[in-house]
Amino acid sequence: MNYVDNFRLQFGKKQLVPIIIGGMGVDISTAELALEAARLGGIGHISDAMVPSVSDRRFHTHFVKEKLKLYKLNVANTDKSSVQFDLGRLAEATQNHVGRTMEAKRGEGLIFVNCMEKLTMNAPRETLRVRLTAALDAGIDGITLSAGLHLGSFALIENHPRFRDAKLGIIVSSLRALQLFLRKSARLNRLPDYVVVEGPLAGGHLGFGMDWKDYDLQTITTEVRQHLLAEQLDIPLIPAGGIFTGSDAVSFLENGAAAVQVATRFTVVKECGLPENVQQEYFKASEDEIEVNTISPTGYPMRMLKSSPAIGAGTHPNCEALGYLLDGAGNCAYATAYNREVLAHPTAKRVAVMDKTCLCTHMRNFDCWTCGHYTYRLKDTTRRLPDGSYQILSAEHVFRDYQFSVDQKIALPSA
Ligand SMILES: Cc1cc2nc3c(=O)[nH]c(=O)nc-3n(C[C@H](O)[C@H](O)[C@H](O)COP(=O)(O)O)c2cc1C
Repeated sequence: MNYVDNFRLQFGKKQLVPIIIGGMGVDISTAELALEAARLGGIGHISDAMVPSVSDRRFHTHFVKEKLKLYKLNVANTDKSSVQFDLGRLAEATQNHVGRTMEAKRGEGLIFVNCMEKLTMNAPRETLRVRLTAALDAGIDGITLSAGLHLGSFALIENHPRFRDAKLGIIVSSLRALQLFLRKSARLNRLPDYVVVEGPLAGGHLGFGMDWKDYDLQTITTEVRQHLLAEQLDIPLIPAGGIFTGSDAVSFLENGAAAVQVATRFTVVKECGLPENVQQEYFKASEDEIEVNTISPTGYPMRMLKSSPAIGAGTHPNCEALGYLLDGAGNCAYATAYNREVLAHPTAKRVAVMDKTCLCTHMRNFDCWTCGHYTYRLKDTTRRLPDGSYQILSAEHVFRDYQFSVDQKIALPSA
């Protein structure tokens, strides 16, 4: 009987365990988690979402405080167009996060950074170029471009000395999105080194509309695979979204996938960035406590626990300190919704905003409990402790379970 360890992901001369831990912003897929994946011979992702905030937490830098100080006088102003990121500081923060992670890397695996392109940061092209360039400068093994696939992203770094040696991959949720990207990047004579096909059961933002239930990972993966074969494009194909057991992974690997990308099972390990009380909420969740909603100001549907404190919170927009979702003209759908509520309730001390959330604030505070569809199965992956809580796992335990399990079995941790 096949198990995941019978397969290898071939990248040039390198052979890897075909398990990739997906990027989970903001710092849910921590450096510690990514380093474990690399140590065990697979691939781990850190995320560059809100990287100045992450650098402040990890290295006690003051990027957020400094930005707020600079724009303090604008806090009460609804026009946020002047609130810009300092590109030098952004590069520094990225280099801290990526560079120190790469210095700590051990083992045969690789570390990639998940770069969420929808973080438009009030200057989409310039900030994205800086983030990509700084990650390459800091020695990252690879970059996975996600959410909001900017068709010109490869071109932003085409003159970087590492443009052809670092692994560059993209996440798509349809064959059409892949075709558009390939057409656009043909001029550069640089194909992606891998394509992650993310289905509708994933965590975080979805590349589908609210009709996500009409799609399934297997069908999309097959379509993409057939297209790659027909075009004789030898690009490793990596399905993601709802691959919960080693056996699930094997069925994709047997059908031509080069590796699998997984995340939900790793949200309840000690190396993950979620605080333990939040991890317990993930364990406890039942299927009807998980929803896909449209409160993310990015415009993409997002999956989360219905009990997330972020839902309905009328937080004052924090664009002067954070502002990662301001589009190129200084607008954010949450700030617009918040201002609308304030106008409608002029005497209220606090307003509720139901249709959007201040994602920057709530992701930073781990109050937006984004999760994969199968989060409700996490309780079956561990033991219940005498006090009723669930035992937190280790990344190694979950990784090895994916690597060696058969027959849809899930190994419980030792007590
Ligand atoms: C808590 C959480 C946060 C996530 N955040 C991101 C993200 O910031 N960027 C991204 O591209 N994907 C994100 N994802 C998607 C994962 O990287 C991965 O592709 C997907 O969740 C795999 O499916 P699984 O969770 O069912 O294993 C997130 C997933 C989870 C569970």
